[in-house]
Amino acid sequence: MKVASPARRPSFGTKTLTTNKHLIRWVEKMAELCRPDAIHWVDGSQAEYEFLCDRLVEAGTFRRLNQKLWPGCFLARSAPSDVARVEDRTFICSLSKDAAGPTNNWEDPYAMRRKLKQLFKGCMRGRTMYVLPFSMGPVGSPMSGIGVQLTDSPYVVVSMRIMARIGSPVFAEIDKDIKRVVPCMHSVGMPLEPGDEDVPWPCNDEKYIAHFPETREIWSFGSGYGGNALLSKKCFALRIASNIARDEGWMAEHMLILGVQSPDGEKTYVAAAFPSACGKTNFAMMIPPKAMKGWKVSTLGDDIAWIRPDANGQLRAINPEAGFFGVAAGTSAKTNPAAMATLSKNSIFTNVALTPQGGVWWEGMTDQPPAECEDWRGERWTPEIGETTGRTAAHPNGRFTAPAAQCPTMDKDWESPVGVPISAIIFGGRRSTTLPLVYQAFNWSSGVYIGATMGSETTAAATGAVGRVRRDPMAMLPFCGYHMGDYFRHWLKMQRGLDTTPRIFHVNWFRKDENGKFLWPGFSENMRVLRWIVERVQGHTHGRETAIGWVPRYEDIDWSGLKFERAEFDELMKVDHAAWRKEVIDHEGLFIDLHDHLPPEMIYERELLICRL
Ligand code: GTP
Ligand code: SPV
Ligand code: MN
Repeated sequence: MKVASPARRPSFGTKTLTTNKHLIRWVEKMAELCRPDAIHWVDGSQAEYEFLCDRLVEAGTFRRLNQKLWPGCFLARSAPSDVARVEDRTFICSLSKDAAGPTNNWEDPYAMRRKLKQLFKGCMRGRTMYVLPFSMGPVGSPMSGIGVQLTDSPYVVVSMRIMARIGSPVFAEIDKDIKRVVPCMHSVGMPLEPGDEDVPWPCNDEKYIAHFPETREIWSFGSGYGGNALLSKKCFALRIASNIARDEGWMAEHMLILGVQSPDGEKTYVAAAFPSACGKTNFAMMIPPKAMKGWKVSTLGDDIAWIRPDANGQLRAINPEAGFFGVAAGTSAKTNPAAMATLSKNSIFTNVALTPQGGVWWEGMTDQPPAECEDWRGERWTPEIGETTGRTAAHPNGRFTAPAAQCPTMDKDWESPVGVPISAIIFGGRRSTTLPLVYQAFNWSSGVYIGATMGSETTAAATGAVGRVRRDPMAMLPFCGYHMGDYFRHWLKMQRGLDTTPRIFHVNWFRKDENGKFLWPGFSENMRVLRWIVERVQGHTHGRETAIGWVPRYEDIDWSGLKFERAEFDELMKVDHAAWRKEVIDHEGLFIDLHDHLPPEMIYERELLICRL
């Protein structure tokens, strides 16, 4: 393959793209601290994107994929130590420890600032500092938020061009001086001295992902990966935004947003909170089974929702992002054809396998693995090697970064500045036992209890043990930027301003039989559950009352085109009272941790649940 010659291109980024004095002064101050060799103002253009991708190819961070098979696509391999979010290195540095609560790591903001100043001193030597403005939500929308990330990672810049609205239009917005800008500092933490040779994936063993909720600031050091480094995503749109939302009376949630259209054209929008790597992207892009004629699902977002009551007391949601940073493993033409179409071009793959044809592969992408490939570390991998060493070809948290606009199922209103009305909220976890396929909360406060006490098995999306059940309230355990007890109170309070409250549900696609096999086929078949949910919301179908909530009867589910016996359904829906006793005791464990901030409603709901059980 012929490689485009470097240099001999116009240089980018030398022009200061803002007139905002505060921003310019801050950039100067940070440059003084970090000592980069150059400052690059990011305009967000296609030409600039290509220029940066070329540099990344030269640096060995990127490999250009076979452009016939994967036009505009690149593969990145991270350092093997930098493959996921680092929850134990994530800090909420509020003035009081109590404000961060027991579920967050806390550090005194003054102590953390001192520490960070030390770490950032000269940390960008030998590198370029990019000034990357981004808008979460459509530029200019009243529901959007603005940040500026200073970073020494061009990988972050090109990734953020896919994941958010960036560049000149955002500078123009900043120059209007209407919205407060969230400053985001980021360094991979590996300065280069003259003569030093760079590595393809610079990072530092010492990592800090620090948030200052009172001053609305983010400082991230040492990692180049995903939620640690793309500060627009988990750091801003969830941890900082959850603080802003609490103060301003709205919600920043770890939720997908989708639209459902019934055969007679009735449209219902729902938001769903599942923990990391528990099915949001798949659910958001679901294509209903053919036999369910006339049902359509459209996508608005796959990870984050900003939700606000409008003037009529109706909750409306926007997706603040513009792309998908999705789990590669398990994504296939069978399980998620819309994602496969989305990532077929102009996408960045991180920590997946490289085939001899210059394509990418990951576990589950095809039934047959390639006879040979390079694994995510760049080492030779064959199915035999995989079997004997237990190594997968792709890292389980290997991901694709793809533009939302390329997704064939995008909703026509996905960029609407006023969002879409939300009629249902679905919580869900990865649970091999106890939790039924679906149930509906009796009301808003019992629904908040269901979300608050959600449990899920841990996944590879964060470093640490995988498969351990932990409480993950509203799928926000790693993302709520303040005290979890206050967060529950905020949820309860939200109902007061509403004319109609969304109905609340809980789903579990991951229940297993005694042989460890999933009881539910999942993926597109989840449409059967979604149809029941939407029909409950619209008042078109029945529910049966149980101790934990309303559930569908076998005959309430649309089984067209799927052979699923009543006995299998009963197994999947079983509410085992002995197992639920244990579950409720586990709820109490979380409540004890939160006790001095726990809203009394949560205690009442628990009592009611115990009585019903
Ligand atoms: P984050 O991006 O980490 O927030 O993850 P996510 O919630 O978007 O999860 P995603 O949709 O990427 O799914 C994670 C994993 O779960 C993938 O390997 C999927 O193939 C798998 N998965 C998703 N939906 C289902 C389902 O209905 N059934 C089963 N068995 N697996 C599923
Ligand atoms: C998650 O872990 O929930 C993700 C991936 O969506 S990351 O952006 O790395 O947080
Ligand atoms: Mn996520």
